[in-house]
Amino acid sequence: MMDRPLSTTTDFTLNGALTSASPQPGERLSRMLRERCGAREVKVGCDAGDCGACTVLVDGAPVCACLTPAHQVAGRRVDTLRGLSNDPVAERLSDSFLAHGAAQCGICTPGMMVATTALLRETPEPTETQVLDALGGVLCRCTGYRKIIQAVMRAGAPLLAAPAGDGHSGTAIPRLDGAGKVAGTEAYGDDVAPAGTLEILLVGAPYPRAGFTLGDIESWRSAHAGVVSVLTAADLPGRNRFGVMPGFEDQPVFAETETRFRGEPVAAIVAPPEVAATLDLALFPVTWTRLDAVENIADATAPGAPQLHPDRAGNVMVTGFVACGDAEAALAASGVVVEARYATPFVEHAYIEPEAGYAYLDGDKVVVHACTQAPVLDRDGLQMVLGLGPDRIRIIPTGVGGGFGAKLDMSVQPYLAIAALKTGQPVRLAYSRVQSMQMSTKRHPSELHLRIGASTDGRLKGFSLQGRFNTGAYASWGPTVANRVPVHGSGPYFIRDYRAEAQGVHTHCPPSGAFRGFGVPQAAIAQETLFDELAEKLGLDPLEFRLINALATGQPTVCGQVFTQGVGIRACLQALKPDWTRERAAAEAFNAGNTVLKHGVGIAAGWYGCGNTSLPNPSTIKCGIRADGTLVLHQGAMDIGQGANTVITQLFATALGIPTHRIELIGPDTDLTPDAGKTSASRQTFVTGNAARLAGAALRAAILTRVNAGPEATLTLDQGRIHVTDTDRAHVIDLTDLPADADGYVLGATETYDPPTKPLDKNGQGVPYAQFGYAAHLAVVEIDTRLGTIRPLRFTAAHDVGHAVNPALVEGQVEGGIAQGLGMALMEEYIPGRTDNLHDYLIPTIGDVPPIETLIIEDPDEHGPYGAKGLGEHALIPTAPALLNAIRHATGVAIRQTPVTPARLRAALKEAGHD
Ligand code: FES
Repeated sequence: MMDRPLSTTTDFTLNGALTSASPQPGERLSRMLRERCGAREVKVGCDAGDCGACTVLVDGAPVCACLTPAHQVAGRRVDTLRGLSNDPVAERLSDSFLAHGAAQCGICTPGMMVATTALLRETPEPTETQVLDALGGVLCRCTGYRKIIQAVMRAGAPLLAAPAGDGHSGTAIPRLDGAGKVAGTEAYGDDVAPAGTLEILLVGAPYPRAGFTLGDIESWRSAHAGVVSVLTAADLPGRNRFGVMPGFEDQPVFAETETRFRGEPVAAIVAPPEVAATLDLALFPVTWTRLDAVENIADATAPGAPQLHPDRAGNVMVTGFVACGDAEAALAASGVVVEARYATPFVEHAYIEPEAGYAYLDGDKVVVHACTQAPVLDRDGLQMVLGLGPDRIRIIPTGVGGGFGAKLDMSVQPYLAIAALKTGQPVRLAYSRVQSMQMSTKRHPSELHLRIGASTDGRLKGFSLQGRFNTGAYASWGPTVANRVPVHGSGPYFIRDYRAEAQGVHTHCPPSGAFRGFGVPQAAIAQETLFDELAEKLGLDPLEFRLINALATGQPTVCGQVFTQGVGIRACLQALKPDWTRERAAAEAFNAGNTVLKHGVGIAAGWYGCGNTSLPNPSTIKCGIRADGTLVLHQGAMDIGQGANTVITQLFATALGIPTHRIELIGPDTDLTPDAGKTSASRQTFVTGNAARLAGAALRAAILTRVNAGPEATLTLDQGRIHVTDTDRAHVIDLTDLPADADGYVLGATETYDPPTKPLDKNGQGVPYAQFGYAAHLAVVEIDTRLGTIRPLRFTAAHDVGHAVNPALVEGQVEGGIAQGLGMALMEEYIPGRTDNLHDYLIPTIGDVPPIETLIIEDPDEHGPYGAKGLGEHALIPTAPALLNAIRHATGVAIRQTPVTPARLRAALKEAGHD
């Protein structure tokens, strides 16, 4: 244990009140504010000054509280977001953030609003450039920043009028859970544990692959007064395995003899915070032996490569396959063929909230509060590792500060649950940014080989895709990626002769998992950029080429699935035509007069099947009315910023015929809400939305039946009454007369929806999804050919969402997806051990995302609630290929490896003969 000087008292003014705290020497201001002063609205995203989430005002100036020593604020004034609640500037700003949809998950919002308040106090009507300068140090991973810019610039203007009506489906009402986000009161994973709670520290592997031997742990523990417990694999009450896919539960909670990726835990230490702060984990009794590791696909599949899992020959975890017609014969008969190999790297989710949670025992039940996208999956996983039944485990999710797929997997949950069980005391665990980046799942690196043929009149013929995906040390969602890629590899086009195969290959890298698109974005980069090359060879305009080949109703997909309605890709492409024509002409005119700077305009399309692939995928929604007239919706779908709380409530309210604002929400809690499945695969609006629609309709039917009213009757909820107004009669149901059920409801309904799908056969033929959503993006870029820098100038995004339940949230998803796609295309590359932080791993800042115009297409889907289709993944898929096509249009250079960094583009330009 290290000796530390005693803490001294720091007196300062916090949010207008004189405050004393006793931080340890060197303690961060962020920690003192959160743990000693209860200011949990100060969020911690990186502890390195990279993300700005912890921004507070010190004497009116914005600073990163994580970089400010606590003692430095002695005698000074500190303001956090909560302290600004009576500030007229901040009040206007919070109204504007809400009205513009500028907060999605909300984890960045306190820092954004504090930094903006400082700006608006000095510059009440800032220009966009001033906004970009003021907020350049605060990262947001959800919104794409455009709505934040609008909210700031219009903070002084009269508020947008709230949409009239009942807030039903089709209305752009502000998110229902927005108030806590803009007030800083939303509690995320690390915000719920009381100060002083026992902390968990993880001991993780220092190498990609290591053998290890644990030493005398009991002696070490005895030598460190205050350490409550040390946990290892020997302490697991159940199986030392977890995973998300049935049959692929291969990840240990604690490695047993060998670690398979850097950071993999071998032990956990439980200690009070003042003790935990003094421990030097380098002295923990473990002996490491570095072993030969395979960190890429080529090495992992080479003869003699170490096998990560003995039952998976050649490190190949799984292979996905789809074939129809005869791709080879069609390629041979094609008038024009293009062929290329592509490579994409690991991409990190980089949500601003690192994984965190809190657990305790409630009687014989272990209760886990943690940020998650899948509470019931978490409970299932804990059942396995704890060896307990579901009635002994309760998951109460916290707010989620961004997920994008990685929070579908368990992270902190098993350590929290085991430590709570072992010690019998409340415990907390928050990953550091480095731990989050080392241990969380990633977007799969890919190696793709495509050959695509077309007839000379521009019709697609043979199509061959071979893909290998680096799935890392454990399965996670790798099987889903391997299966989704062949299904989606064609893009939304009609192709008779198709063959696609995708393999997941294990390496000694962090597990690759789910990340907005499950491999489809990587495949779309290859397919959509090769389409441009094919169009050029054919002498066809890229947009016209896509329109010639766009999938139409009645044409089979490559899986043989035939949609008789709702295929909106053609409408998306058509919607881009005016911008395409104008922007291409403008770029060509610009380029004729410039030699160094070049403009380019690219287009790309995408599709995505909503929900699980050919697997059961149900969601259940429950609702009830209490005798006092309170209407309650048990909504178990995780809202990770995308808007599920709002959209699902709107759909329920629409079906019931009651204003949306009358509904009281009970959010996800495995003891209180039925299983609404996981928030992934663009399924919540579609699947849980349908369950909500059915529940609303069932409750409405029960009410109407009670008074024998017709289907068009209107309902009004009152104190203890329901007024039912039929065409010629009015009825009153006195709720106080009705018996209540065990939940206290006098009327209620529970409904389940499961999308109709069918299994795929050995050739991938079947009905993988009940619906697809469609999209096409247009990107305009400016390139400095001497420097290789790429500046996106604008995007236009056309999305077929079937029916826009909430158009404002649709725009939010599109803008956020485009920002992530931009990052994937131009800057993001996770390298294990080298980019485990947010200054070496770059994500788009507010200055990187240009204006985005969203065109909403509504080609209704017969299965969607009121025709709605899913949207989450679709918003990202076309962005990167549209950018790569724009780069090629500007420079003539085709880049086949992402990200297209300035160095990579400059090298390619040089090779192509540019100065
Ligand atoms: Fe900004 Fe989620 S809303 S990080």
